[in-house]
Amino acid sequence: MNVTVFGTGYVGLVQAAVLAEAGHRVACIDIDDDKIQRLKQGHIPIYEPGLEPLVKRNVESGNLTFSTDAAEGVTHGELIFIAVGTPPDEDGSADLRYVLTVARTIAEHMQDKKYIINKSTVPVGTADKVREEVTRTLAARDAAQLEFDVISNPEFLKEGSAVADCMRPDRIIIGTSEKASEQKLRQLYAPFNRNHEKILAMDTRSAELAKYAANCMLATKISFMNEMAVIADKVGADIEAVRQGIGSDPRIGYHFIYAGIGYGGSCFPKDVQALKTTATQLGIVPEILNAVESRNQQQKHYLLDKIVQRYGSDLSGKTFALWGLSFKPNTDDMREAPARVLMENLWQMGAKVRAFDPEAMHECERIYGNREDLQLCGTRDSALAGADALIVATEWQQFKTLDVTTVKNSLNDPVVFDGRNLYHPLDMAEAGFEYLCVGRPQVASAQ
Ligand SMILES: NC(=O)c1ccc[n+]([C@@H]2O[C@H](COP(=O)([O-])OP(=O)(O)OC[C@H]3O[C@@H](n4cnc5c(N)ncnc54)[C@H](O)[C@@H]3O)[C@@H](O)[C@H]2O)c1
Repeated sequence: MNVTVFGTGYVGLVQAAVLAEAGHRVACIDIDDDKIQRLKQGHIPIYEPGLEPLVKRNVESGNLTFSTDAAEGVTHGELIFIAVGTPPDEDGSADLRYVLTVARTIAEHMQDKKYIINKSTVPVGTADKVREEVTRTLAARDAAQLEFDVISNPEFLKEGSAVADCMRPDRIIIGTSEKASEQKLRQLYAPFNRNHEKILAMDTRSAELAKYAANCMLATKISFMNEMAVIADKVGADIEAVRQGIGSDPRIGYHFIYAGIGYGGSCFPKDVQALKTTATQLGIVPEILNAVESRNQQQKHYLLDKIVQRYGSDLSGKTFALWGLSFKPNTDDMREAPARVLMENLWQMGAKVRAFDPEAMHECERIYGNREDLQLCGTRDSALAGADALIVATEWQQFKTLDVTTVKNSLNDPVVFDGRNLYHPLDMAEAGFEYLCVGRPQVASAQ
């Protein structure tokens, strides 16, 4: 099928590459000329496992093309995806500017029937807004007879495993009341629906809300566990034992119940905020979402509080090694990353940071530029050199085993603040570390 994807970010680019791999002819359109030129030359602007070979293979086969020419894109695709950003507006609601601009662009150039598919995460009622925008624009160019439908098809991929998630989705939600549109999307997704039925057809509003409900549920699980960790801290319980104790109940399960220093990324924070705003605008007090957000904001300061308790609030002269900058492993995305709150507060208190991340170093440099109080280090070991303590902010696989001798020999003092509970308090104490983590009792160091 001929498909066009507007927006070549995490969602658009991955979705386009995966659809091309399944044999569809996919044109990617973006307004960022630099990004498009780089993509044409085979440079992938984001780090996502498996994406680079997939894009290269499909560009070579001719199934995947990149352009800034919106008119060409609209002509090409019978099915047109909107996969542009929906950042928070000033009041916390989702800013629909980019989505509605694409809707207008499609209507300005279409010459035949189009299936317009909302892939961006958008508030309930956005499909109607897109429909109105298209209708208005078509009327303005005396083309009101052209047919179209707007379908909600939210994306559930996870950054860090986006390609695998799109290749083997756990569900495909098709939100439309038009049988013909549902059939079109069933045809599009048939290659991904062979093993068992994954398609859930529903009305557009339910599809739109399902996406927010999913992300808010996941954010709730994280904030709930983080609150339990704070309680565990005070009562002298071990949140890791509590996690296993509750995860063994199949009604709760083991997924997504690790305590830590809060969620980040481009989705959970803004989606919780957007659903809160929707609820408030409807006169509903979003009690649970308010608590989820508030706990998350506090949790991002959890390690900082421990650092201040340990050293006081004047950290001038102190240097911290920081492992992990991305908001989670396997991505270079630092949007709303807890590591940013940590670094920015450490700098404010006068400390210096020596940071390492397996993939997010360029992104960190792009965000913070050259600063005297930030040293970007090429390896995890070199980040330790001469630091007063180590802070772990992201649970990258390569941080999960600690080379005790190297860490002790490199740090000025054997102190580790672990925001992801990667190590065992007893092992750390036996190895002579002062080890402070999240919701686990501190064991006195053996040395
Ligand atoms: N990132 C995720 O993990 C994820 C997962 C599921 C859903 N989503 C949702 O998908 C949407 C896109 O997210 P993302 O992370 O891919 O965003 P992104 O910021 O990485 O990419 C958006 C892209 O859209 C482009 N763009 C903006 N206006 C355009 C226009 N008029 N025409 C063509 N291109 C245009 C931008 O230049 C950019 O390249 C958001 O609504 C997000 O909430 C994201």
